Amino acid sequence: MKLTVRRFECLDSTNLYARENFYSLSNGVVILARTQSAGKGRRGRKWISPDEGNLYFSIVLKDDFPHTEQVNNITQVASIAVAQTLEFYGLFPSIKWPNDVLVSGKKVCGLLSESVIYRNQIQGAVLGIGLNVNMSLKTLKTIDQPATAMGIELKKNLDPEEVLAILLNHFSVCYACFQKKGFIGLKDHWIKYTKEWIGKKVRVENESIKKTGSILAFNENGTLKINFDDNVSTVYDGDIYIDK
Ligand code: BTN
Repeated sequence: MKLTVRRFECLDSTNLYARENFYSLSNGVVILARTQSAGKGRRGRKWISPDEGNLYFSIVLKDDFPHTEQVNNITQVASIAVAQTLEFYGLFPSIKWPNDVLVSGKKVCGLLSESVIYRNQIQGAVLGIGLNVNMSLKTLKTIDQPATAMGIELKKNLDPEEVLAILLNHFSVCYACFQKKGFIGLKDHWIKYTKEWIGKKVRVENESIKKTGSILAFNENGTLKINFDDNVSTVYDGDIYIDK
């Protein structure tokens, strides 16, 4: 897929802009903003988006769009591309299910995919990526969960445009593989970045569950196999937290 970047100084949210202009934007357009005034996170959370040299962008995905049951995998495909980018810079990333990318156990990148639906038919999606590249310690402290930035981990400032180019290259390759073979085509990468979580005791939270269990496996379709006290279940969405 050819990815073309459109740059903006400030948007409320790159996801919102891409969704509002979805039908006039071509497949593969990347909406990039230096700063966002109302960055959105998963499950109604905010994404703090100051102008400190971070990356906030959304990719418009419409042609050869995956099957409905694979839509949840889009952010997971992108999380692999982010992890590969971090590795290129010498970092050791892991992916916290379903798609948070962590370094040193702290969140460095969040992904939010939103489907665009017309008359009950999926037209495509907007894939939003927020990557902390040069965030200051002061700003990181205002985030309500342990967070870090590439620059903090590497003890130097990075060029966000260079990071973006590398990330988009990795994404193109991963997404092409996903389109051709499905999420199973990225199985080895998925296992590599998630395996450190196997056996960990976690709290699972989604619309219908709030309980603890230990992670048995990361399934090939991106879902989670958990051993709860009363049964073994497959979890399709939500968040996991280390149970202390
Ligand atoms: C999360 O909660 O982890 C997902 C965060 C996603 C943030 C990105 S920043 C670019 C894009 N625009 C938004 O408003 N959100 C996503």
